[in-house]
Amino acid sequence: MRVALGSDHAGLALKQVLIDYFKDKGIAYSDFGTFCERAADYPDISFPVIRGVASGEFEFGILICGTGIGVSMVANRFQEIRAALCGDPYTARCSREHNNANILTLGSRVVGPGLALEIVEVFLRTPFLGGRHQRRLDKIKLLSDPS
Ligand code: RB5
Repeated sequence: MRVALGSDHAGLALKQVLIDYFKDKGIAYSDFGTFCERAADYPDISFPVIRGVASGEFEFGILICGTGIGVSMVANRFQEIRAALCGDPYTARCSREHNNANILTLGSRVVGPGLALEIVEVFLRTPFLGGRHQRRLDKIKLLSDPS
């Protein structure tokens, strides 16, 4: 499994917590920034992670901003991306089982490091259930903005 990681300045410290966890567990990851505390716009740091997941180079992406909302909005503009903002392990599990989420988004100003790690663990180990859930995902793909 390979995980693509990205955060804006607000998510930098939490991203480092995840990096330490991945190193400890031997999980392969790439860090696409940001790398310093200077303000970074979340669309800019989201895109390399989105591209990595959409291309299949990475099985999963994790994007972090202050609330997790901005990076979710960016990621879900892309056809191949199913990004889930999760604030608890139950939602993280369902986002995989039901929605086949391929990007987890976290709000660093909302969840603490311990809870964030639980969410990440659940997200990465939970398989998609397929079946009726795939049918629903297929319907999402068929939707297009009429405006
Ligand atoms: C940055 O201050 C903040 O707006 C950003 O991290 C994020 O929460 C946006 O959704």
